[in-house]
Amino acid sequence: MKKRNSTSLKKVYGFIAVAFMMITLTVAMCMSVSAQPMVRTQDVVHTTKAKWDNGLAKTPPMGWNSWNHYGCNINADIIKETADAMVSTGMKDAGYQYIVIDDCWMDSVRTSSGRLQNNPKRFPDGIKAVADYVHSKGLKFGIYSSAGTKTCQGLPASLDHENVDAKTFASWGVDYLKLDNCYNQGRPLIERYTAMHNALKAAGRPIVFSICEWGVDSPWEWAPKLGNLWRTTGDINDSWGSMTYILDQEVGLYKYAGPGHWNDPDMLEVGNGGMTNTEYQAHFSLWCMLAAPLMAGNDLRNMSPATKDILMNKDVIAVDQDPKGVQGHKISDDGDQEVWVKPLSDGSSAVVLLNRGDQSAFMTTTAEQVGLPKSSSYKVKNLWSHGSRYNPKTFTTEDLIRGRVASHGVVMYRVWPNK
Ligand code: GLA
Repeated sequence: MKKRNSTSLKKVYGFIAVAFMMITLTVAMCMSVSAQPMVRTQDVVHTTKAKWDNGLAKTPPMGWNSWNHYGCNINADIIKETADAMVSTGMKDAGYQYIVIDDCWMDSVRTSSGRLQNNPKRFPDGIKAVADYVHSKGLKFGIYSSAGTKTCQGLPASLDHENVDAKTFASWGVDYLKLDNCYNQGRPLIERYTAMHNALKAAGRPIVFSICEWGVDSPWEWAPKLGNLWRTTGDINDSWGSMTYILDQEVGLYKYAGPGHWNDPDMLEVGNGGMTNTEYQAHFSLWCMLAAPLMAGNDLRNMSPATKDILMNKDVIAVDQDPKGVQGHKISDDGDQEVWVKPLSDGSSAVVLLNRGDQSAFMTTTAEQVGLPKSSSYKVKNLWSHGSRYNPKTFTTEDLIRGRVASHGVVMYRVWPNK
């Protein structure tokens, strides 16, 4: 009975999230003003299994992006203060590197010579000045455009301007480009993203290429040969329903990820206020299990201690950044309770016990079920617990991996076979 109730709750959350995403996608598609019908990429270009190696993003990129918290309300001061905060809060030391300006940085017209230019009010000294500032902090700088005639907010974008835009970005010192899919004129996806791929190669600067086509045309099949990461879904919003709805769409995608090439379930919402800290802890743990790019999306200048603890948990980040680059996958699901496993380079595995139900639950799995080799015992480290009598930081087990998991929470372990 309880299971049925929570399964229907899962469905309700799913329904709300689907409705939200449908509205977002419909708006985006309406903006993709098109005289022709949408052409499926498979009809146009045959993909190969070859992957692009630009030497970048060997582990999932970590950084910050302006969109989730600020939307269009950005300016040079916010970006510079965020770079300062990235350093002063310890985020940089924890591994966060890229400061990415999303939509709305550009002016509504190109220059007379056809180059994108900064919005003069928001970025009075130009984008290069901001990039220089970010670099002076030992960080890397990222920017946004669309593989369409306009960005999703209706500003000039890169379709048919790929070469000039890639050169402009390179001349400003851009290290990361997120390329969206709005106003795409119904033109074939792969053709459009290949044009920017080629332009970035020709621009002569190493630039992480983040493909943002919202998972509409199985990007995991073709994006690894063009870019370093690809969005797998529509936009996240700051709610448990949206986060878990995206999580459900990651099932089965693990085989496409690896060093240099990552599934991107969208940016983090940790610290933005729409979920509880328990839910944010689950969100962060699960994104790390997915080997997701970790792009913080909150106000780094004003973080609560709880937000900092989540975003800077080094044990959990190490799971995301593990050099083996294997994306975690779900090994069991009873409607409320899920077990996720991520094999790591030192022979251990990360294990997440996720409780989507509305009551706390005692959950168990075994070393055998999570795929660890047979051993007389296993060392288990709880990656969130600070250690207590009933919830120790580390313990040894012969086989059972178990824990009491809060409603909408996780228990996250790293488990080593003892030699
Ligand atoms: C799309 C993208 C978002 C964000 C906005 C900006 O919706 O999916 O991540 O970049 O555009 O307009």
